[in-house]
Amino acid sequence: MVVADMIDLPDLEEAKGLQKIVVASLRARGGKMLPRVESGALWPMTHFGLDRVSVFQQATGEQQAQILGICAQGVLAESYHIEKCGMYFAAKMNLLSESTEERMLYSVFAADEATHLSWISAFVVKEAVESAREDSFIQQLQQVIQHENKAILAYVIQVVLEGWGIQHYRQLAKNCLNPILQATLIDIVKDEARHHASGLVLLQEDALQASLPRVTELMKYFFSAVQTGPLMVVSAVEKTLGHLSLTQKEKVFAELDCRRQIGDRTQILRELVQAAPWSGHILGALE
Ligand SMILES: [Fe+2]
Ligand SMILES: [Fe+2]
Repeated sequence: MVVADMIDLPDLEEAKGLQKIVVASLRARGGKMLPRVESGALWPMTHFGLDRVSVFQQATGEQQAQILGICAQGVLAESYHIEKCGMYFAAKMNLLSESTEERMLYSVFAADEATHLSWISAFVVKEAVESAREDSFIQQLQQVIQHENKAILAYVIQVVLEGWGIQHYRQLAKNCLNPILQATLIDIVKDEARHHASGLVLLQEDALQASLPRVTELMKYFFSAVQTGPLMVVSAVEKTLGHLSLTQKEKVFAELDCRRQIGDRTQILRELVQAAPWSGHILGALE
C-alpha cells in the first residue's frame, strides 16, 4: 500500500519537534490547546441508558466507574477516527475542487478537522484508539472516503454524515460532565454545521444522479450502522462484569430500550436524506 493513501497514519511517539510546530500552528489560527484529561467521569450513566440496566445497578461502584470509562473512551475513540477521516476527506475534496473558492473551503475544512482531532486527542486514551481500529463502521468509512467519487463523497460524507455528526456531537455536549470537553464539543458542532451546510450548496444533482445506485447501497449500510450503538455499551458491561449469556444480553438490550434509540437514530438519518436531492428515489429504494 502506498503510504500517502493510508487514512489511518500512525501517531508519532517521538516527534517532539513536529508536535511543537503543529501545536503552534493550531494556536496561531486561534485554536485553544487543551490540557490532557486523565480522570473523572465524562458522561453520566443516564447518557448511555445504563441507569435502567439491572446488572449495572447491581455492580460495585468501582465496576460502574469502569463501565462508564470504557463507554466514554469508546465514544471518544470513534470521534478520533472520524476526525482523522475528515482530514483525508477534506484533502481529497481539495484536489477534486473545481473553483478557487471550493478549494479554499476544503483547505479550511482540513484545518478544522485537524483542530477537532487535537481536541479529542486530549481526552482519548491510546488503548481505546487501538481497539476502535477494528470497528467495522470506521473501516467502512475509510473505504468510502478512499475509493468513492466526488459526487458520492459530497452526498454521503459531507451532507449525510457531517449532518449526523451535528446531532451526535450536540447530544454528547448536552450530557457531558466535564465543562472543558462540553465547551469543546459545542465548538465542534458549529464547525460541523458549516461543513454540512456547504455540502448542500456544493452537491451537483446531475453528477449525483449518475451514482445513485451506489449512493443507495451505501445509505443502506449507514442506516443499518446507526442501529448498532448499544453494542458498545453491552461490550463495556461484558468487559467489566464478565461474559453474559444470550438471555442476559437480551435483557440488557431490552433495558437499554434499543428499539426507541434505533427509531430516533433512523429518523435523524431519514430527515437528512429528505433535505437533500433525490430523497424520493433513495428512500423509496431503501423502504
Ligand atoms: Fe470534525
Ligand atoms: Fe467536519
